Amino acid sequence: MNQATLSQLPDEPAPILPAVQPTLRSKRLRLRPFDISDARVVQLLAGDKEVAHNTRLIPHPYPDGLAEAWITSLPAIYEAGKGVSFAITLPAGDVIGSIGLMINSVDNHAEMGYWVGRPYWNHGYCTEAAQAVLKYAFDKLKLERVFANYLARNPASGRVLSKLGMTQEGCFRSHRFKHGQYEDLIVCGVLRKEFAAKKS
Ligand SMILES: CC(C)(COP(=O)(O)OP(=O)(O)OC[C@H]1O[C@@H](n2cnc3c(N)ncnc32)[C@H](O)[C@@H]1OP(=O)(O)O)[C@@H](O)C(=O)NCCC(=O)NCCS
Repeated sequence: MNQATLSQLPDEPAPILPAVQPTLRSKRLRLRPFDISDARVVQLLAGDKEVAHNTRLIPHPYPDGLAEAWITSLPAIYEAGKGVSFAITLPAGDVIGSIGLMINSVDNHAEMGYWVGRPYWNHGYCTEAAQAVLKYAFDKLKLERVFANYLARNPASGRVLSKLGMTQEGCFRSHRFKHGQYEDLIVCGVLRKEFAAKKS
């Protein structure tokens, strides 16, 4: 690529997110923007060792103030068009987890990430939330592709992605350094046309 071509690339990706973050609804769940009042439950649930152990960036122990700082950072990320995060909530209002998209609007794709609090595992909640987020990603944001990755030793996350109809695209060997060890990372993805074909 020469200098002229490089200079034609945009400095910043064009935002594709609507001005106001919507609330998504599924059969049992409501996915809404986080509020600062969610910080206590985020610290409690994300601070579980098993959640931190399987995610990239969540520390354990989970320090005081981190949940507040994370929630406070989200509106600017949304406004810059770089990502959207949803609190996964039950009908009574309890926050049970988090799901989001990190958006690359140059390539028109996004990486999906999620966690669900341990008391709520294996009720199909993550799969249901992720289905709603995929629908939003393809139908509203018009993305071309959504991908997600998980540590090879985390079969529950692999099962979620398989239930969503994602294709396992590869294994990045020794790609993550976690707790003093290199770990294999499995990459999965789904394209807009595949999502549309599944719906019809
Ligand atoms: C991965 C995670 C989000 C799944 O949430 P969840 O709400 O329990 O997911 P679902 O109930 O929709 O689906 C889980 C599936 O994994 C299966 N599963 C659970 N533990 C498993 C294991 N050890 N081996 C194989 N499958 C397993 C469940 O049986 C279920 O599949 P099924 O519906 O066919 O029975 C949750 O376990 C979690 O937050 N883990 C810690 C953080 C994390 O891993 N985040 C993802 C990083 S990539």
